[in-house]
Amino acid sequence: MRIKVNGRYYLVKADPQTPLLWVIREEMGLTGTKFGCLKGICGSCTVLVGGIAVRSCILPVGEVGGKEVLTVEGIPEEHPVKRAWIEVGVPQCGYCQSGQIMTAYHLLNNNPSPTEEDVLRAFAGNLCRCGTYQRIKRAVNLASKLMGGRR
Ligand code: FES
Ligand code: FES
Repeated sequence: MRIKVNGRYYLVKADPQTPLLWVIREEMGLTGTKFGCLKGICGSCTVLVGGIAVRSCILPVGEVGGKEVLTVEGIPEEHPVKRAWIEVGVPQCGYCQSGQIMTAYHLLNNNPSPTEEDVLRAFAGNLCRCGTYQRIKRAVNLASKLMGGRR
């Protein structure tokens, strides 16, 4: 099967039941997407499929179909979310951060001026063992401003 990731088509050899996460990491070498629980609980494997944030550890690659996949490598370095992450200095160990960035990107694309509640709801399934939650909130607010949101 052929799937589009970050604007480029890849021929996938894996069985259609293989989780998208392993195809992204092992076949495509896009190791920015991390794995934690492998049960859809921690959010570290979050990518966008057809513009929707999904847990790639529980999505069979065969279900991607014609939808484009976006991973953390596909977000330009100058994008407000990445700029805000660097300016606020969000990461500690960094392991969960690609999932956090993808969640922020998804949230702000759909809601450029999120309320605090919106942010809490969007990130509820993204765990961070280092407890960077306050900095994540600050970075989302900054990215929202950089994107022309009201905050
Ligand atoms: S590794 Fe996918 S949600 Fe935890
Ligand atoms: S920065 Fe270490 S787990 Fe989130």
